[in-house]
Amino acid sequence: MSIQLAIFVSGRGSNMEAILKSIQDDELDASVELVFSNDLNAKALETAQQYGVKTAAIANAGLTRAEHEAKIQELLDTISFDYIVLAGYMRILSPKFLSHYRDPRGYYRVINIHPSLLPAFPGKCAYEDAFNYGVKISGITVHLVDEQVDHGAILAQQSFPRLADDTLSVFKARGLAVEHALYPAVLREISNNGIKLDNLARESIET
Ligand code: GRF
Repeated sequence: MSIQLAIFVSGRGSNMEAILKSIQDDELDASVELVFSNDLNAKALETAQQYGVKTAAIANAGLTRAEHEAKIQELLDTISFDYIVLAGYMRILSPKFLSHYRDPRGYYRVINIHPSLLPAFPGKCAYEDAFNYGVKISGITVHLVDEQVDHGAILAQQSFPRLADDTLSVFKARGLAVEHALYPAVLREISNNGIKLDNLARESIET
C-alpha cells in the first residue's frame, strides 16, 4: 500500500533526499505530499523543489510554540497524509500538536530518526556526545514520536562502529550513510506491512 508523507526539515535535508531518491527509484512506494520547514532558508526546501515536491515554510521566530504549531496544523489540514516524517526537524512537537495525529491504535503518526542507539545519547548533539563518550559501537534509531524528546517506540535500529582512528567527521559520515539507508527501509516496511504493534515496546505507547 502506498503511503503519503509530510516531511518536516530544518536544515540540510540529506535524509529527506534519501527518501525522495528511494521513491524516485521505485524502491519505496510512497508519495511526499509536502516538505515543511520552520527555517525559510533551509537547503532542504531547495532540494525538495528540485524533486518537484510541494514545499512550505513558516518561521517560528516571534511566535509562541502554540502559535507556530497552530499555523502548521492549518497547513497540514490542506493536504492528506498518513505520516509526518521528521528528518532533522529541530523543533519539539507539543503533546497538543501530536494529539491531532493520533492513530486509533494509540500511537502518533509521527516518525523520527535519531543518530544514536536510543535510549543512549538523546538530544541535539548525539554524534558528538557518543563520540566524546568514547563508544566503540554507536548506531541509528528510527522511532515513533511520543510526548518526550527522542523517545517513543523503536521501529528500527542499526549499529555502526567507531574505529580507533576515527575523527568526529569520519564517525558522523559513517553514521549518516546508515541513516540514508535505514530511513527509507523503515518507511518501505511501513508501506508494505503497516506499523506492526507486536514488534514495538507496547508500554511506551500511550493507550
Ligand atoms: C540527522 O543526523 C538526523 O539523524 C538528525 O538530524 C540530522 C539531519 O540531517 N535528527 P539531514 O538534514 O537529514 O541531512
